[in-house]
Amino acid sequence: MISSRVRNLKESSTLKVNALVNRMKAEGKEVFNLTAGEPDFPPPEAAKNAVLEAVAKNQSKYTPTAGVPELRELIANKTNSQQTALAGTRPWKAADVVVTNGGKQAIFNAIFALVDSGEEVVFGAPFWLSYPEMVKAAGGTSVVIETRAEAGYRIHPEQLERAITPKTKLLILNSPSNPTGSVYSRDELKALGEVLKKHPKIWVLSDEIYDRIEFVKGAWTSFLDANPGLRDRTVTVNGLSKSGAMTGWRVGWSLAPESLTPALISLQGHSTSGICSLSQAAAVASLKLPSSDFEGQRLEYLNRRNLALEVLKKSAKIKLYEPEGAFYLFVDCGALLKDDEDANGLAERILQEAKVAIVSGVDFGAPNCIRISFACDPVTLREGCSRLVRFFDTP
Ligand SMILES: Cc1ncc(COP(=O)(O)O)c(C=O)c1O
Repeated sequence: MISSRVRNLKESSTLKVNALVNRMKAEGKEVFNLTAGEPDFPPPEAAKNAVLEAVAKNQSKYTPTAGVPELRELIANKTNSQQTALAGTRPWKAADVVVTNGGKQAIFNAIFALVDSGEEVVFGAPFWLSYPEMVKAAGGTSVVIETRAEAGYRIHPEQLERAITPKTKLLILNSPSNPTGSVYSRDELKALGEVLKKHPKIWVLSDEIYDRIEFVKGAWTSFLDANPGLRDRTVTVNGLSKSGAMTGWRVGWSLAPESLTPALISLQGHSTSGICSLSQAAAVASLKLPSSDFEGQRLEYLNRRNLALEVLKKSAKIKLYEPEGAFYLFVDCGALLKDDEDANGLAERILQEAKVAIVSGVDFGAPNCIRISFACDPVTLREGCSRLVRFFDTP
């Protein structure tokens, strides 16, 4: 009875782990939860006050599908400040912005508007687990490039060249990455752009949702800042979920060329319409804040990353990748797997025996790895990581 498009979609493994953690907590068991895919910081005060004000002003009507003009303008400005290479040619305007229910809907809209049945979408593994499911739902085929920790979990231009076929429609890049925390350098992005110049029909979706969370200040580069010549076939996705600490308020967006934007708006207009008017008020207030207001969060993530690394380095059984951004540690646990076991089994053992919840890498396309989130308080993080080390090193 379920359509073939939806029948084969996988349940999110993060949600499954959380259900298990909640059950254990309900049974009165102590669990150190290192699974969070969202900041533990509150949203900015200015954003909270803007919501209250919007409620008082009865801002309860439908908004334009693509978002209120002030918000679209602020998003265009923010993106132009990150893509200064476009300044001399064609910087973004408010009309190029579509405000979406989180970055997720921006990615969904772009994949649905670009990918036809049978067309191929290329991305690297480990990947954010929704990419293959969205591609599947759109009738497309995922072409996954394996990346290695030793290569910084980044796609090499030669790998990209080899993955391209006449059916390739879209390349998805995600920097900083969930789950690995890897960040592409400007030169690496340029080198990928050089490959794409030879293939004018291929589009790029640059998922930049973790943009402000980088551990070497200035190391992160927006894809179009490195490749301004690809503006006419690149969709930049971002939002306020991660770097703005407001996941539940569902504010994301895309910036796309004129050839695509009407299709994105039409798709959204017939599905969810414009996002919640109160969230848009919060987003306007947040985007008016100077970026220095978010510096404290960036430094706190950096401290927590270092704390987790310091503890986890004590185990010789695992291979650690030092993330350059986002708030995850992606750990290769291949040496700890039993016969016929993948990281799902290991994650379950860790939860039952060490009482630490982490996310298995299986659904991220990395069956030997686990993801540890450091978007939690340092006390939980230290104790959780110490327990992991004890678990790893127990023969
Ligand atoms: C890489 C990546 N892209 C996009 C999203 C979607 O973010 P949002 O919560 O804004 O929909 C997430 C959320 O986990 C993510 O990790």
